[in-house]
Amino acid sequence: MKEINVAVTGGAGQIAYSLLPRLISGETFGEETKVNLRLIEIPQVVDKLEGTIMELIDCGFKQTGELVATSDIREGVKDADWVLLVGSIPRGIVIDGKKIEERSDLLKINGGIFTAQGSAIGELAKSDAKILVVGNPANTNALIGKNQANNPSQKWFAMTALDANRAKAQLAAKAGVEISSVTNMAIWGNHSPTMYPDPYNAKIDGVSAVEVINDTNWIENDYLPLVQQRGKAVIDARGASSAASAANAAIDTVKAVESPTASGDCFSAAIASDGSYGVPEGLIFGYPLRTTENGEVEIIQGIEINDFAQAKIDTTTEELLSEKEAVKGLLG
Ligand code: NAD
Ligand code: LMR
Repeated sequence: MKEINVAVTGGAGQIAYSLLPRLISGETFGEETKVNLRLIEIPQVVDKLEGTIMELIDCGFKQTGELVATSDIREGVKDADWVLLVGSIPRGIVIDGKKIEERSDLLKINGGIFTAQGSAIGELAKSDAKILVVGNPANTNALIGKNQANNPSQKWFAMTALDANRAKAQLAAKAGVEISSVTNMAIWGNHSPTMYPDPYNAKIDGVSAVEVINDTNWIENDYLPLVQQRGKAVIDARGASSAASAANAAIDTVKAVESPTASGDCFSAAIASDGSYGVPEGLIFGYPLRTTENGEVEIIQGIEINDFAQAKIDTTTEELLSEKEAVKGLLG
């Protein structure tokens, strides 16, 4: 069996509880891959991971390799093929008497976590390691981590797959079709209320979703805010931030990066901009992506951007630039 090393921060958190079994079950990395899992937690919580490891053993998956719990990020990410950076504070909680309302409010609290983690990954993870940032604000945390890692052969992603799944589900429900009918779902920009889930280029059974739905008012005034604010709606309804769907989206992202994208389709994640679509180079920006047969991840070029879309892309770019400015001291 092939073996890979996967490191997960926030191993005792809500998302991890749904995520970890699926990483070692054969579902994510294949039936013939043994997964060595390193679970990383803060020192106050690391002991709880013993219970998590007991449960992972009790799942009895034949793909389960070595299971390690640590509070030492350097030990956790050494020789990692994949690093899933989930550990960070979710919004909805109260800190110093102030409720954390927006993901950007988490910048100061969570941003600092990603400096030490980024430099450990750059130094110690494999040179072709792939890193997925889930912890919010995901794009800017990835910007901090990637800058600190300073290792260009490693590939950093921030998660927008949950937004893409939400965006597909709502289009499918409106059109009365199976979710598998919805393809080409691009999330542009930030994982925040300024994200642009692109209905003009999304397709339902191969036809533009906007044409199929034939209700521009619903698309622009109901659909977009519904997707953009879905994370808050879940927090309000559940009293905790999305966990099962976030874990599912993390698995979707790993699988999308690990296997070629279906011809003509795309997947959504944020990666460092190379200037495509006029986005300043280096910003961690949500794009429509494809994984080639050679395993390269590319930004899909030539997508038509109408005036409506351009205005949305400009807004989310501005937000990411202001987040970058707010953390400039952490960029190394
Ligand atoms: P949680 O509070 O249940 O778990 C977070 C865990 O991270 C805790 O166990 C905590 O001890 C740990 N942690 C904190 N700092 C750490 C550090 N420096 N190193 C290692 N571990 C650390 O939260 P959750 O519900 O699992 O959510 C985690 C993050 O994911 C939050 O920031 C949340 O907003 C974000 N999130 C992102 C998306 C997305 O689509 N990108 C979706 C859902 C949630
Ligand atoms: C989500 O989109 O569900 C997460 O980013 C959690 C949040 O704060 O909304």
